[in-house]
Amino acid sequence: MMKRQTLLAQKGEAMIPMVDLKAEYAELREEIMREIADVLESGRYILGPKVAEFERLVAGYHGVKEAIGVASGTDALNLSLKALGIGRGDEVITTPFTFFATIEAIIYQGARPVFVDIEPDTFNIDPRGIEERITERTRAVLPVHMFGMPAEMERIEEVASRHGLHVVEDCAQAFGARIGDRKVGGFGDAGCFSFYPSKILGACGDGGLVTTEDASIAERVRMLRNHGSKGGYIHHSIGLNSRLDEIQAAVLLVKLRRIEGYIASRRERARLYTEALKGVVDCPVEKEGFHHVYHQYTIRSPLRDRIRASLRDEGISSVVYYPLPLHLQDALKGLGYRRGEFPVAERAALEVLSLPIYPELDPFSQERICEVIRRAVG
Ligand SMILES: Cc1ncc(COP(=O)(O)O)c(C=O)c1O
Repeated sequence: MMKRQTLLAQKGEAMIPMVDLKAEYAELREEIMREIADVLESGRYILGPKVAEFERLVAGYHGVKEAIGVASGTDALNLSLKALGIGRGDEVITTPFTFFATIEAIIYQGARPVFVDIEPDTFNIDPRGIEERITERTRAVLPVHMFGMPAEMERIEEVASRHGLHVVEDCAQAFGARIGDRKVGGFGDAGCFSFYPSKILGACGDGGLVTTEDASIAERVRMLRNHGSKGGYIHHSIGLNSRLDEIQAAVLLVKLRRIEGYIASRRERARLYTEALKGVVDCPVEKEGFHHVYHQYTIRSPLRDRIRASLRDEGISSVVYYPLPLHLQDALKGLGYRRGEFPVAERAALEVLSLPIYPELDPFSQERICEVIRRAVG
């Protein structure tokens, strides 16, 4: 029997994607083209005025002294850890429930990721588990603001400062998220952002950025992104070629002007989902005083696979972020972790499902998604 999804596609009925970047572009086309033409005509393609302006505006938006554009979120993590001097033999405490890049950056420095289980409702590192994992080799804590919901930064900062540890925030999924009026990226020694196209603030390619209050960290990241050089072919350390380019900065400037509207639309769509799905599945939790930006709207249910199959049959996209916690990944066998060590993360991996969420998602599609989920759960 032909799958309904195939039939829908043949009939030309709309599928509902996870994000709709073409719709976003259609809305911004003229402004983006003007900004890009500006760059092309200027002849300044690397580390020119657009990157400088974008860095200045992002620093202002986050209320931090420094913002440094780099080539990706992965490199924002790499360069931040390297700028803090984290290297061989060091340990960095982080979460097993995140995108692989978080721990790749730790391992690239020659350091060892040490996992702490997560909170079941927010999917963020559980601050209560951090202290018992600290050893004489621990140098930093690396929380991730999963799906756009800030981690418990005040409690993490408190433990870290008591033990003299650095804090590096993985803000890849959480541009604009905040606790009270403090935005993520302004808590730790460094905040690491990704501008991967589907992110809250997305480029038309790869891009990333580091925020920091500390002028010496900023200076080191600026050097490291440019082969360890301040210029003039004099090199102070071994760095990378990891610069945000002018064309990406030009695109990001256009979207940055609208960021609060984008976040408000996501929050409104999340509110509609929660209203329709409360009691049917577990909906995302927003703790009091925390401002979630809903990079993902992630439900959880023991019937996850049945819900996912029903959505697929109706031509509705959904994604499991993430199906296998990092301590169980083949690539990390060498760390010596076993199944059962981080039960909250392991259970989450079996139950989570992220639904389509983006500013252009219309209420009729959302109602259709919720109807399919209600029917699947029965
Ligand atoms: C939590 C997390 N950390 C790091 C990254 C890496 O960012 P990028 O893809 O820009 O290298 C991502 C994004 O994909 C992410 O979701």
